[in-house]
Amino acid sequence: MPLIAAYVKRGRACYPAPMQTEVPSSPARARPHAMLIAEAPASGLAGRIRVPGDKSISHRALMFAGLAIGETRIEGLLEGEDVLRTAAAMRALGATVERLGEGTWRVHGFGIGGATTPDDVLDMGNSGTAARLLCGILASHDLFAVMTGDASLRKRPMQRVVGPLAATGAVFAARQGGRLPLAVTGASEALPLSYRLPVASAQVKSALLLAGLNARGVTEIEEPVPTRDHSENMLRHFGADIEVQEAGSGRLIRLDGQPELRAAPITVPGDPSSAAFPLVAALLVPGSRVTIDGVGLNPLRTGLMTTLREMGASLVIANERIEGGEPVGDITVEASDLAAIEVPPERAPSMIDEYPVLAVACAAARGTSRLRGLAELRVKESDRLSATADLLVRNGVAVTIDGDDLVIEGAGAIPGGGTVATHMDHRLAMSALVMGQAAKTPVAIDDARFIDTSFPGFVTLMQSLGASIAPCRTEAA
Ligand code: S3P
Repeated sequence: MPLIAAYVKRGRACYPAPMQTEVPSSPARARPHAMLIAEAPASGLAGRIRVPGDKSISHRALMFAGLAIGETRIEGLLEGEDVLRTAAAMRALGATVERLGEGTWRVHGFGIGGATTPDDVLDMGNSGTAARLLCGILASHDLFAVMTGDASLRKRPMQRVVGPLAATGAVFAARQGGRLPLAVTGASEALPLSYRLPVASAQVKSALLLAGLNARGVTEIEEPVPTRDHSENMLRHFGADIEVQEAGSGRLIRLDGQPELRAAPITVPGDPSSAAFPLVAALLVPGSRVTIDGVGLNPLRTGLMTTLREMGASLVIANERIEGGEPVGDITVEASDLAAIEVPPERAPSMIDEYPVLAVACAAARGTSRLRGLAELRVKESDRLSATADLLVRNGVAVTIDGDDLVIEGAGAIPGGGTVATHMDHRLAMSALVMGQAAKTPVAIDDARFIDTSFPGFVTLMQSLGASIAPCRTEAA
């Protein structure tokens, strides 16, 4: 196969990228790789935008609505590929899931205990949240199902949910480590679970809560560190009996099984994990001022904002309100000189998806930053710890991985000039494009397609603020 040796677009060079060898399982992704190049814009980013709906809340809205009786109307649903996988899976289990307009969806649930055997394999695409949470529903329903995903998802550990869910009486057959594809014969009369999470994971917690919904008795989950509590909030919203207590540095959650979930309308706030990209870009591009309206501000999701403020970011939150049971606000950021930071490990769950873009901010800051306790990053859509280090190294930033810590030498400016391997990981792709806005020479990415999993319209939205992002035209040597 001829190697792609040079890429040229309107006089701008794109640099050779390693060829991707994995073939995505989704036909929607069987498009040619989209290489993009990002460079510093002539002037600051400016404007007022909204970002797409929260991914975590969107998955849960579809799942809990499917388990409720009656009609749930959802506004602001994220229509990224990950969430569309959840919609398709809930349909396959018997719910009626319809799109009424942009972000507006209607779900008629099958009710707790009402999911039926799907007549085909459930393909969860790139989405760990969809796959893991769905395992909870499957485990406690009297059905048989087979689940798979794309090359990235098939590598990710599933034992963390499959292991504890087996105690419901469900029988799972999977590859080593519980990896997909997996088959499950759900329990005909599921037993309640009592489990202390060995890792801080909202996905595992939520999978167990979803299973506990159809178990007779009380499901008890202890988490060592609080993680995002959207499932707990939504269960309350749908009328379940759920109790949450502080327990040491973590929480103890008790859910009464077999409640009747009553359909209730849901408004999904803007995703703080998506807002992170324009937010960091605006901080780094001199002269910028950007407002992002309607961003979810659940305190278990705002670790990045705390950290950026500690670094000296000008970040103001206005118009704080509660929408659909979640705190929401409008965030205004202005370009700021950032100082290096040490981020403690206990903050990781509240900003777990934001480390790649935080690493970009640290590269542009002055001094040595240490981001501590990042072991969980190794099992994300890619090995995000090494992929984030690689993103920096390829662009001239000194970085080391010290155990589970990422140590970044910020020089106050980013050299750039690298082509970043995105490893089927949307957040790496967006972080690299943000880096390009602040780098001395352009930054290219090998594959932008996976951005659509969480942030459809990302490039256009960034361009509307004045960001410089363009496609690379590939030319075979
Ligand atoms: C999520 C939890 C986090 C996060 C993921 C979404 C969720 O994963 O990284 O993007 O919606 O529960 P873990 O639970 O594995 O930490």
